[in-house]
Amino acid sequence: MQLKIGVMDSGVGGLTVVNELQKIIPDATILYYGDSGNCPYGNRSQKDIIELSKKIIDFLLSQEVDFICIACNTISTVIEKLQKDCPIKLIGIIQPVSNYIATVLNPKKIGLVATVDTVQSQEYPIKIHEKNKHITVIGQGSPTLAALIESGEFTTKKIEAEIQKEMQLILQKNAIYSVILGCTHYPIVEDHFKKLYPKITFINPAHYQALVANKVFLNKPIEQNTGTDTYIYTSGDISVFSSIVEKIGIKTQQPVKKLVL
Ligand code: DGL
Repeated sequence: MQLKIGVMDSGVGGLTVVNELQKIIPDATILYYGDSGNCPYGNRSQKDIIELSKKIIDFLLSQEVDFICIACNTISTVIEKLQKDCPIKLIGIIQPVSNYIATVLNPKKIGLVATVDTVQSQEYPIKIHEKNKHITVIGQGSPTLAALIESGEFTTKKIEAEIQKEMQLILQKNAIYSVILGCTHYPIVEDHFKKLYPKITFINPAHYQALVANKVFLNKPIEQNTGTDTYIYTSGDISVFSSIVEKIGIKTQQPVKKLVL
């Protein structure tokens, strides 16, 4: 049997994690669920997020994945609560990049752009301060940017206006040289962030999560390599999903499938 990694997100954003996983663990089979039908999660109550996430976890468990990457930052803010009821390992997206920032990057200040829930949860400063108390995290949540990306509306004008709204609040009175893209949807439009703010380094947490996933993956005994592929399911619009699969260059031989849980 082939080892399988489950990946879950509130929508298309977690495909940016699949992208990193495919680069770092090319021989993994990946099963992705994006809950676009219920996206955005970022303005929802914690109770809602937990209920919706448990349905996705149950689906991934029914597909016999070996462990799950919670691609979504918003869902990762409640990972401890989800892990209590889950028999397999959940790898969140916030902890791995926080370790890197706290122990390697070690800036005086760091910016965070994310959903409103992720910023309000304080999970980034909490995880960073567990290892390094000297870093100030300046966070700004957007109630609209993730939903705009999710809708497939890629007009430069709209996207860049939203990015500027969020970034201006962070940069006011702050000398900041690095900013965490703390929502999985944001790396899809990373080129717009970079174009508007060429002097800032934007950090994609997906890379650090994929490195942790690789460690877990390498520790699992491979019984037999029967060929790998990436399977993508969504509760939302297949055509928006397929266009983002193509835009970010996800490798898959399977069509995106609609599945409402
Ligand atoms: N993918 C989610 C995250 O990383 C954001 C989108 C949403 O609000 O559902 O936080």
